[in-house]
Amino acid sequence: MSEAIEVDISDLPGVGPATKAKLEAGGITTILDLAASTVNELVDNLNITDETAHNLIFEAQRLLKEKGYLEKDLVSAQELYDRRAKMVRCTTYSNNLDKLFLGGIETQAVTEFYGEFGSGKTQICHTLCISSQTTVEEHGLGGNVLYIDTESTFRPERIAQIAKTRNMDVDKMLENIHVAKVYNASHLELIIKALGSLIQQNGIKLVIVDSIISLHRAEFVGRGTLSERQQKLNAIMHRLKRIAEIYNIAIVITNQVQASPDTFFGDPTKAAGGNIIGHASTYRVYLRKAGQERKAIMIDSPCHPYSDTNFVITEGGIGDPDEAKKSSTSSWKSKVAEKTVKRAVSSKEDDEKDSEEEKS
Ligand code: GTP
Ligand code: MG
Repeated sequence: MSEAIEVDISDLPGVGPATKAKLEAGGITTILDLAASTVNELVDNLNITDETAHNLIFEAQRLLKEKGYLEKDLVSAQELYDRRAKMVRCTTYSNNLDKLFLGGIETQAVTEFYGEFGSGKTQICHTLCISSQTTVEEHGLGGNVLYIDTESTFRPERIAQIAKTRNMDVDKMLENIHVAKVYNASHLELIIKALGSLIQQNGIKLVIVDSIISLHRAEFVGRGTLSERQQKLNAIMHRLKRIAEIYNIAIVITNQVQASPDTFFGDPTKAAGGNIIGHASTYRVYLRKAGQERKAIMIDSPCHPYSDTNFVITEGGIGDPDEAKKSSTSSWKSKVAEKTVKRAVSSKEDDEKDSEEEKS
């Protein structure tokens, strides 16, 4: 239920036909697009002054706050309570993981899963593609999915397998997942800019970005490019957070890890992308392999205590450890071994550069 907002961009004070045309030429067609923009984006794309950009965004946000789509600067606890009441939680099909999230993946939030290769990030995303399409009564979001695939790891046959195992209508499930294959960092930035209209046009309730960092990590090589890369990631994260809130949808992102050689105790890995991604994610969950199972640890959350749990990857997507004993594990294993070797080589190179990120 992406809510359509019946206000035209030209209803804003100071937006005449000329400004409207400029905004449209820059890809900003709705008041939501404008409210989710940053001053720098508008200045760069529309060739307007900082002050004009600031005023336009301010007016768009003011109007959305007035209409109750965005939280006001000062709100009563009652209003906040009512807004939170509209929040919906989506099951992951693992009771353990759902409990970690106090009921499931939330709308109005950005949930980040980070972990090493094979830790289950993409498998969780595939499972959510199915569970989110079921009704709210069935612990889904009752809407369609937008899957932004930056690593070319989206597999429709895996979706079909999960749906079939769960006795669901495979064709319907596949039809309602809109996949955006993204091949470079600026393409990702463009898709994120167009997110508002994509969500409205396609009845999207879940947006997945798998992964948020791989393209920027690959393209912005060398220390000299680090601040530019972080600025771009910041703009993406800022927009995702706003979009989740404005449209009352769930946003799930995946992130890679980097080695943290200065760690003396515990696990010497941390999320890639520095503080920018961590600060903008509402929930941050670290995944790691634990024998045949996977461990999920709630690293950062405004309302959850530190906690961890185990889940497994099965034919039906994500499940609980006791389910694993029932399902078989065979053909996928050799593919995984091959991928593991390739990843181990390339991630060592990335890590050297990323150890600089903490300073940004
Ligand atoms: P990267 O994208 O490489 O960083 O890793 P990831 O965290 O996204 O890993 P992904 O979610 O792709 O998990 C891969 C793991 O899922 C493999 O190690 C397998 O253990 C498991 N897996 C994949 N497909 C199946 C399946 O059909 N059945 C079962 N039981 N497990 C599977
Ligand atoms: Mg993956």
